[in-house]
Amino acid sequence: MVLQEQQIAAQIVEIGRRLYERGYIVAGDGNVSARTSDGNVLVTPTGINKGFLKPDMIVKTTLTGQHVAGSHRSSSELAMHLAIYEERPDVQAIVHAHPPIATGFAAAGLALDKAFVSEVVLTLGCIPLAPYGTPSTRELPDALRSLCHRHDAILMANHGAVASGPDLETAFNRMETIEHFARISLTAHVLGGGKPITGPMIGKLIEVREKAGLMSPEMRCQECSYTDEVPGLNCPTSVPTPVSAAEDETVTLTRRELIDLLDRAAQLAAKGNR
Ligand code: 13P
Repeated sequence: MVLQEQQIAAQIVEIGRRLYERGYIVAGDGNVSARTSDGNVLVTPTGINKGFLKPDMIVKTTLTGQHVAGSHRSSSELAMHLAIYEERPDVQAIVHAHPPIATGFAAAGLALDKAFVSEVVLTLGCIPLAPYGTPSTRELPDALRSLCHRHDAILMANHGAVASGPDLETAFNRMETIEHFARISLTAHVLGGGKPITGPMIGKLIEVREKAGLMSPEMRCQECSYTDEVPGLNCPTSVPTPVSAAEDETVTLTRRELIDLLDRAAQLAAKGNR
């Protein structure tokens, strides 16, 4: 491994240690990956406790999943990481874990999509729930492909959570925010129910986060019930097409993407009738 890759491998080890220490993973849970400068990926090995990794256990693969280097087998969820890298060229690192409170929401079929905490609206927006997919199959990457365009933090039904970012540190911090927000949401529920921030106030938060460069306008209209309530929220209309979809393949669209798609079709039809 070249120096830059050794540094990334050491960082992946450190993130695994933190995930274990924070109780976000136990036993063989979780996986962590990052892009390398030569266009490949470094990823954790499968089935090993990620709290106690050594840098030489980290595996290098291509973006299509071919083994490049390392004596271990790569994560069984490598395809999920590669799908996110494929959809999001800006993403440099991905962390998957099973933090207990957030995973409790995912097991109960509940998204973390209410605007209960201003800081979460500012940094992540809402955290949607991706449909269930069998681990290690294509179902899981397919469930995440469309959501990952507008979300850096996603719950995975009956499974766990995934966070992505421009570096490993940010992806880990996002995982921490997911679990912290799940804890807060649960506390608010126990205390009689959270009181969500309302539409116009959310509009102001979105303005603040875009001015501060915390989230791009492309992520303005997420899979949250609350973005529908924001007056005058102008959603960018680019609808991402899942890159790997063949002509006859079933694709999944989020509700927002379906609305955008229908809006665009209606606009085109109106133009054609003029
Ligand atoms: P791996 O050890 O194969 O990465 O799998 C862990 C996991 O959390 C699967 O969801």
